Amino acid sequence: MSVKTAIYPGTFDPITNGHLSILTRALKIFDRIVIAILNNPNKVPLFTLEERQVMIRHVLRGMRNIEVDSFNGLLVDYVIQRKTNVILRGLRALSDFEYEFQMALMNRKLNRDVQSVFLMTDYKWFYTSSTIIKEAASLGGDVSGLVPPMVCARLKEKYGFAERA
Ligand code: PNS
Repeated sequence: MSVKTAIYPGTFDPITNGHLSILTRALKIFDRIVIAILNNPNKVPLFTLEERQVMIRHVLRGMRNIEVDSFNGLLVDYVIQRKTNVILRGLRALSDFEYEFQMALMNRKLNRDVQSVFLMTDYKWFYTSSTIIKEAASLGGDVSGLVPPMVCARLKEKYGFAERA
């Protein structure tokens, strides 16, 4: 039987519990998931690519059949390069729908062999995103429970709210 790999692309700046919920669900469908972090030189993320990779690897330690990688350029080209044809995306509230629909249709136009598959995140993370979590954390808000503990600590460090020992 052939191994079915799905590419889970995103900015992951930083990884959230919502992403983890999608990953856990996807592992029940696919044999292998590649987390593909977009390395976009035109955008300045809060966390460097390396920092994002370190956090993701830490959070996923012990979880099997997941690989962490990065890509630049067209996602569909990366998908083909990884010898698969599935893009995995999470869907949250209705507000995601238009953006995801646009991306899926563009990706389909660029390569008809590549299929986008959407999984619904757990209702607990329905209205959270890396962006809103960063905004709250930047103002000293408590985002524990929305991101893994290690990410919570890194956010506090980045924004200068880490407790001194
Ligand atoms: O986590 P994000 O920011 O919603 O992820 C967006 C991502 C990385 C999936 C998207 O920006 C992307 O695929 N970028 C690669 C460039 C590309 O292929 N663009 C054409 C299709 S929209």
